[in-house]
Amino acid sequence: MRILVTGAAGFLGSHLCDRLLAEGHEVVGMDNFITGDPQNLAHLAGNEHFSFIRHDVTQYIFVPGKIDAVLHFASPASPNRNSPYGYPNLPIQTLKVGALGTHNALGVAKAHGARFLLASTSEVYGDPEVHPQPESYWGRVNPIGERSVYDEAKRFAEAMTMAYHRYHGVDTRIVRIFNTYGPRMRLDDGRVIPNFIKQALRGEPLTVYGDGSQTRSFCYVDDLIDGIYRLLMSDEHEPVNIGNPAEFTILELAEIVNKITGNNAGVVFLKSERDKDDPQRRCPDITKAHTILGWEPKVDLEEGLRRTIPDFKRRLAQA
Ligand SMILES: NC(=O)c1ccc[n+]([C@@H]2O[C@H](COP(=O)([O-])OP(=O)(O)OC[C@H]3O[C@@H](n4cnc5c(N)ncnc54)[C@H](O)[C@@H]3O)[C@@H](O)[C@H]2O)c1
Repeated sequence: MRILVTGAAGFLGSHLCDRLLAEGHEVVGMDNFITGDPQNLAHLAGNEHFSFIRHDVTQYIFVPGKIDAVLHFASPASPNRNSPYGYPNLPIQTLKVGALGTHNALGVAKAHGARFLLASTSEVYGDPEVHPQPESYWGRVNPIGERSVYDEAKRFAEAMTMAYHRYHGVDTRIVRIFNTYGPRMRLDDGRVIPNFIKQALRGEPLTVYGDGSQTRSFCYVDDLIDGIYRLLMSDEHEPVNIGNPAEFTILELAEIVNKITGNNAGVVFLKSERDKDDPQRRCPDITKAHTILGWEPKVDLEEGLRRTIPDFKRRLAQA
C-alpha cells in the first residue's frame, strides 16, 4: 500500500513509518514540526520508499499520486502545562488539528477510496468512574477544563470519523491509545517517564508529586505499533483500546528507573501539582484487542525502560 502518515515526525508517527516500511509499504510522511522533530525521521533520508511533505494538516491536504491508507497521528500529545510542547500551551492548535486536521485527513481518504485510521486516546474517557475502561464506557470529560482542548478535540475527531464511515462509507478505524513510552519521546515534553529518565541519568533525585501512590499503566512503543498495525489490517470500525494494563504506582516506576540507571540519588516528594482533571487512575481493558486482533503487550515495564534509556542517554549527551 501507499500510506499517508500525518504527524510522521512525532514519537509514535516515526515508529509507525518504520513499521510500515518494514512491512513493505510505501510511506508519505507529513508534519509541520510543531511538537515533532525532524531527527526522528533522519534515518529514513535516502529511503526510496519514503517521502516527506512539510505541511500543516489544518490546511487543505494535497498528496500527489494514489493513496491507499491514511493514518492520522498529527496532534500535540503531552498534557504538561510546564512544557512548551504540552497541549495546555498549544490549545488552539490542538483543537484545530483534532477537528480541521481530522476533517482534511478524512477528505484525503474519501477522495482516494483509502482506508483511514484515527489515533485517538484514553483521554476520551476523561476522569473515569469505571476501572479498567472498556470501549463501551462513554467517559467523564470536563468540557471546559484545561485538558478539554485535547479531550474534546479527540472526541470530535472520533465522531467525525464515524460520520465519514456511516455517511460516506469510508473504511475507517479508531485506536484509543493509552500512555505509551519508548525511544524518541521528547526529552522535554514533561511526561513522567522522560522526566524520571533525565533526572536519573543526571544523578539527580527523581521528583515524585504527592505520595507517589497514583497509578499509571505504560505501554512500550513496539507493542502499541503492533496493535495499530493489526487494527489497520482488520475490519473493525468501532474504537479499540491499545495499551498495557499492568498498573504501577509512580513510586514503583521511580524505583525501577533508579535501579536500571544505577542512580543512587533516590526520590524527592513534592507537593502535588496534579491538575484537577488529571485522572488518579487510568487502565485499559484490552479484551476487545485480544479477541478481535489477537493482540496483547509483550514487553514489560523494566524491559521497555532498558530499551528506552540508551536513546535518552545518547540524546542528552548531544544536547
Ligand atoms: N504518546 C502517547 O502516549 C499517546 C497516547 C494517546 C494518544 N496519542 C496520540 O498519538 C498521536 C501521536 O502522539 P505522539 O506521542 O507521537 O506525539 P508527538 O507530539 O511526538 O507527535 C505528534 C506529531 O504531530 C505533528 N503535528 C501536530 N499538529 C500538526 C499539524 N497541524 N500539522 C501537521 N503535523 C502536526 C507534530 O509536529 C508531531 O510531530 C497523537 O494524535 C496523540 O494524540 C499518543
